[in-house]
Amino acid sequence: MRAFLLLFLLFLLVGCEKREERVVTFAVGGAPNEIEFWEKLVREFEERKGIKVKLLRQPTDTDQRRQGLVVALRSGMKDPDVFLMDVAWLPQFAASGWLEPLEGSGLKREVFFKRVVKLVDIYSGKLVALPVYVDGGVLYYRKDLLEKYGYSKLPETWEELLEYSLRVQRGERKKSPQFFGFVWQGAQYEGLVCTFLEFASSRGGGITFRKGRLVLNTGPNVEALTFMRDLIHRYRISPPNTYTEMKEEEVRMFFQEGNALFERNWPYAWALHQSKDSKVRGKVGIAPLPKFKGGRRASTLGGWHIGISRFSDTKRESLEFLKFVLSYEVQKRLALNLGWNPGRTDVYEDRDVLKRMPHFKVLREVFNYIVARPVSPYYTQVSEVLQKYLNSALSGRLSPEEALRRAEEEVGKVVERYSR
Ligand code: GLC
Repeated sequence: MRAFLLLFLLFLLVGCEKREERVVTFAVGGAPNEIEFWEKLVREFEERKGIKVKLLRQPTDTDQRRQGLVVALRSGMKDPDVFLMDVAWLPQFAASGWLEPLEGSGLKREVFFKRVVKLVDIYSGKLVALPVYVDGGVLYYRKDLLEKYGYSKLPETWEELLEYSLRVQRGERKKSPQFFGFVWQGAQYEGLVCTFLEFASSRGGGITFRKGRLVLNTGPNVEALTFMRDLIHRYRISPPNTYTEMKEEEVRMFFQEGNALFERNWPYAWALHQSKDSKVRGKVGIAPLPKFKGGRRASTLGGWHIGISRFSDTKRESLEFLKFVLSYEVQKRLALNLGWNPGRTDVYEDRDVLKRMPHFKVLREVFNYIVARPVSPYYTQVSEVLQKYLNSALSGRLSPEEALRRAEEEVGKVVERYSR
């Protein structure tokens, strides 16, 4: 009788546990259309697998997305279980021990961009994340306007881009006073570091650590930053709010309203520019970013990676979801619907993708010019300093040289603090 009672109790307990629903919380941000798409994918996954997923909406800005996750992970919270991480701050998450190793999960890491996986997804020899999509800075341009002003070829150099912009802006201003030649990300946030890295690398400079010291205040970097500042204040082909407000979405909307000739942005803007309610639909071209005369092309490596929290209480279910997001089918749909560059390389050979995404050819070229931000667990602290000083040069508060000198000095202190 007693054994029977025990068995009965056990049965009740197991029953209860089964009934208690296990929910995977997935944190993701981005442009509104991207979140909508994630909602759809999540619903499909739930139907197919019978696993519930709660979508935790995050902002678009990468710094804000990181801060939101750091608060939860630092205190070891169980949620969110799965999240996307920017390639820039993934090393911090890995080094903090916040990511559940994906070893033995049956995921084939060889189908993903090898260089990128090696750069950030493997920590202490263990796979901790995989790329959902890779990003690179690109140039969008108005085909119709280049034609209208008699330009038969794209600007090869930044100097040419300036020339084209000045002329077209002058002409277009007659009927649209809000028109500008070139829009790009200059607000005080991570995107500014990405833009600066492109200009600087193209000039022969960059953001590099040598013997543990950041080398920043160099001739080419000063020239690049001066050029950026001049685009706003001297040539005035970039709007005055470039350094106060311009992040990805602000830049994209400005261009999409028909108010600019050129735009620097990431591949995601392509699908939106071609959407039904876009004023520039059918009038947009995409190309690698120009280079400085005598310099080289450069495009900052961006992108978002997926991982599972070490504190998750639904690791098995989370892994199922992660596998779903990284599957060929979903990766293909992310490319077709959002214009993203999938992290899986096999999708690039897909016939539908090649047919419906002709701009993928351009994007493939862009990846030849990729430059990476420093890969370091304390990159975000370094970046915060850079953001502040680069922005103060754009606003005119500090000369480019003074800004870079001070940034170099302050980063030195950060490095010292972390390497102690
Ligand atoms: C994009 C890139 C990311 C970068 C961010 C900057 O989201 O994918 O790597 O840090 O833009 O704003």
